[in-house]
Amino acid sequence: MGSGPDRVVSLKNVYARYVTSEKWIVEDVSLEASRGEMIVLMGPSGCGKSTLLNVIAGLLPGVIPGVVEGEVIIDGINPVKQGYRALRGRVGIVYQNPEIQIITRSVYEELAMAPENLGLPKEEVISRVEWALDALGLRGYENKDPQTLSGGEKQLVAIASVLTMKPKLLLLDEPTSMLDHTGTRLVLKAITTLKEEYGLTIIAAEHRVEWAVDVADRVYLMADGRIVLGGTPDDVFSDIAAVTKLGVRPPGVTEVAYELYRRGINVGFPVRLRNFEKFLGVSHD
Ligand SMILES: Nc1ncnc2c1ncn2[C@@H]1O[C@H](COP(=O)(O)OP(=O)(O)O)[C@@H](O)[C@H]1O
Ligand SMILES: [Mg+2]
Repeated sequence: MGSGPDRVVSLKNVYARYVTSEKWIVEDVSLEASRGEMIVLMGPSGCGKSTLLNVIAGLLPGVIPGVVEGEVIIDGINPVKQGYRALRGRVGIVYQNPEIQIITRSVYEELAMAPENLGLPKEEVISRVEWALDALGLRGYENKDPQTLSGGEKQLVAIASVLTMKPKLLLLDEPTSMLDHTGTRLVLKAITTLKEEYGLTIIAAEHRVEWAVDVADRVYLMADGRIVLGGTPDDVFSDIAAVTKLGVRPPGVTEVAYELYRRGINVGFPVRLRNFEKFLGVSHD
């Protein structure tokens, strides 16, 4: 990987803390993401995932008082040196709870707000809203009051409302952790579409390992502010002992394969069900 125009995120030896904390919350983190890549951050609660996302979004130290050291380059901008406003329109961030992000009374208004705030001409605002409605499968929702929608639909609206900025980078902080099963499926499907059809660069903190291994190009496991294991989902999760030691549950299929291995049956260490199906000869594709 070079540092060409396709590099969207480059962190080098980044340390971060809040003014209120004495110790570093993010310690010596280096990571890169190129256009169209999806990275999933995992690790136990409190390990620093949200803080790292805040640094990447320029919110720490731009909005939340704190200290960030090391090099942070997002879409060619260093938000620590140039100020987080230099990132305006380039990064969208969506949190767990869609309720706190949605502020208007119609889906259309909600989606139009960001491009209007960017001062874009009316036609451009309309075309971006339509694009986001299509990208997230929200056609027909334009005139609905977001408050009447299901949790999953609200989260789609929250994602769509940052997409209308046409960000290079979408950050998702546990986007499904407050949703029920149906809502989770809806949102995960939409995110997969954004990656696969729209080539968006996405960094998500997410604890649903089966989904993470399915969509992530790379997974980073964090512990106590540091990235302790990183690579492709296969690289990371086939080392089941290391993953388990970090308090992250490996994919169910990997656990099964490991149990079989302990009983003397070697099926390899698949991290996705479809790889195991191939091994069993019951693959549908
Ligand atoms: N605004 C804040 N001010 C001070 N400390 C914080 C703040 N937000 C989070 N922390 C602390 O930083 C550590 C990492 O938290 P966080 O980044 O939210 O972890 P995660 O998202 O992995 O659960 C925790 O110890 C947490 O208490
Ligand atoms: Mg968090």
